[in-house]
Amino acid sequence: MRWHYEDIDYANINAKALKDKTFLFYLITSASFIEITSDVYEKNLIQFYSDNMKIVSWLEKVWEPEEIQHGKALKKFVNTVWPEFDWEKAYERFKEYYLPHCTLDEFQPTKAKEMLARMVVETGTSTFYKALENYSTDLNTPVLGKIAHNISKDEVYHYDKFEDGFRYYNQNEKLRRDDIIKVIYDRLKEVDGEDGRLAFRAIWEVRENEPFKDIHYEEHKKLVGKFAKKYYPYNMAIKMLLRPLDLNKTVEKVTVPMVRGALKILGI
Ligand SMILES: [Fe+2]
Ligand SMILES: [Fe+2]
Repeated sequence: MRWHYEDIDYANINAKALKDKTFLFYLITSASFIEITSDVYEKNLIQFYSDNMKIVSWLEKVWEPEEIQHGKALKKFVNTVWPEFDWEKAYERFKEYYLPHCTLDEFQPTKAKEMLARMVVETGTSTFYKALENYSTDLNTPVLGKIAHNISKDEVYHYDKFEDGFRYYNQNEKLRRDDIIKVIYDRLKEVDGEDGRLAFRAIWEVRENEPFKDIHYEEHKKLVGKFAKKYYPYNMAIKMLLRPLDLNKTVEKVTVPMVRGALKILGI
């Protein structure tokens, strides 16, 4: 591992100043739940790629421990700033809601396509943590900045490894550009989907001790939109999403601002 969460200086967190940052609380707690549940995905991925020992061993020895460490680092941050929140109780509830969704049925139909889907997921995580790193500067919280920076780097590295896997399987599958775009587009629509909503719901219910209504999540999503507008690294995301298309540099130069403009119009 390139870093260890035990080395993070949690004692130096300005907990008092962060305590009333409810949006930050939801953001980090949701992320900690999803990261710490990576073992379920690892088992499914290992089953899916059981023909390839190199990938299986990387998933077991590197990918899963790193994802779990992300969850632990974020959990410790939550417990440091919001110790009154019952993380374990909310996590149990999250698993109740979330685990039925984690099945092999959720996977793409082919190995190259699933690698592409994993690249989209790692694009989502690496850019999310980059945004969190940017946000932490405004919050004057360098400890969070350090955690987010470390995690973001790991996610970019995961992206690279899944890209290697995609290129390996695509030697046989020979996906056309429109196939690739379709997988990326379909998976992209899910990045912000069920897992985030279920995590938010579990956290909300335990924190507020009241029945959850969709409107609570809608309100949170509005804040996510504002957060993204200010801190999200759109160019980084677009470059990562376009990479499997193997556009040449000139085309890429034109495409990135075009896609960015299109996303803006769509309000993404
Ligand atoms: Fe992660
Ligand atoms: Fe990752």
